[in-house]
Amino acid sequence: MDHFELIDGVLHAEGVSLETIAAQVGTPVYVYSTATIERHAQIFREALAPTGDPLIAFAVKANPNRAVLATLAGQGYGADVVSAGELLRARAAGIPADRIVFSGVGKTADEMRLALNEGIFQFNVESEPEAEMLSAVACELGKIAPIAFRINPDVIAGTHAKISTGGKENKFGVAYDRALDAYRLAASLPGLRVQGVAVHIGSQLTNLDPLRAAFGKVGALIADLRAAGHELQTADLGGGLGVPYDPAVPVPPSPAAYGAMVVEATQGWNVRLMFEPGRLIVANAGVLLSRVIRVKQGAANAFVIVDAAMNDLLRPSLYDAWHDIRAVRPTGEGMTATVVGPVCETGDTFATNRAMPEFAADELMVFATAGAYGATMASTYNSRALTPEVLVKGDQWAVVRARQPIETLIAADSLPDWLD
Ligand code: LLP
Repeated sequence: MDHFELIDGVLHAEGVSLETIAAQVGTPVYVYSTATIERHAQIFREALAPTGDPLIAFAVKANPNRAVLATLAGQGYGADVVSAGELLRARAAGIPADRIVFSGVGKTADEMRLALNEGIFQFNVESEPEAEMLSAVACELGKIAPIAFRINPDVIAGTHAKISTGGKENKFGVAYDRALDAYRLAASLPGLRVQGVAVHIGSQLTNLDPLRAAFGKVGALIADLRAAGHELQTADLGGGLGVPYDPAVPVPPSPAAYGAMVVEATQGWNVRLMFEPGRLIVANAGVLLSRVIRVKQGAANAFVIVDAAMNDLLRPSLYDAWHDIRAVRPTGEGMTATVVGPVCETGDTFATNRAMPEFAADELMVFATAGAYGATMASTYNSRALTPEVLVKGDQWAVVRARQPIETLIAADSLPDWLD
């Protein structure tokens, strides 16, 4: 459910007309709804309430805008971060360090130093050499690093190959068969305190079975680790629950169904559970608002050329992802066309031969479900400035990332002496 609805024939984000935002900020622009973010945060929390007092750490990579993070901080959410940049953003948004977990296969010594000095809740360590480096860095600082190993359970997540992470051929986590040895190593290293287990098998999961299988393996491992003398207080079950993108495809399991599965799968674990949802919290809370530049008849099909492009929303070209297309002022008429941006690549295509509302030049188009992995994956390809972002709350709205002047982009380059 989201808060993008027609009011008097014009698409609004909560109480604010998207025509108003387009007129004042220009297009393309991302628009987020506070009410949708908060509603999803609450629904997810309620679904997991029967598990006790879980730490819900929003996966910052899904939407790192500081205003979005601050909204989630207000909901008591922590943060799952994968870089120094994300850690600093989460802190700047008011997320307390003791609600931050640090994931990722390539943490550097500098990033470990920063996280140790901040005093984060947990490092999800993804390999034995990473444990050794973290031990050395913690000793150098005279600190103790609380750790979990991220286990690679070798399950098939059943999602797009580029966002599957829990198969044995993937770079993520410690191989399940080596887990006991990894924990033995960590327990012998100074500067580390082993406190938990972590798993995350992929994103946009539309079936609970792979998650259930992965959690079953984590449960068995917890028992084996305790039998081997390790004390475990936390189990981080990652993120990954999918959201509806294409109305023609069956909806993914609800947060309530996910919560019920978690309750069942974690019976008797006797740990504090942790979760790292990203997409589920913010995807439906955002749209990419764009203006039609012109409609062009190709040899084989009609093209609607919009002012957003693959650099603004990469998901269709990277994963063949579907984003629903809505008109800001629908006429009731329809058309079938291919929707493309101005970038000079055939991959700059949002939808191919899509049956959708009718569009003419200058009209406003919305790509739905763009609040997760949208603005955050934008680039400046074709020397297009990064997309601005707007946050709506009721009938208030604010620019939460300004449109970058193209001069700033150009000024970031410098000329070497021999060209100056
Ligand atoms: N935890 C870890 C360790 C992760 O790697 C991820 C996502 C999450 C949590 C959050 O997963 P979520 O709940 O959002 O599914 N750019 C891709 C998605 C990449 C996901 C990467 N990891 C896309 O646009 O579909």
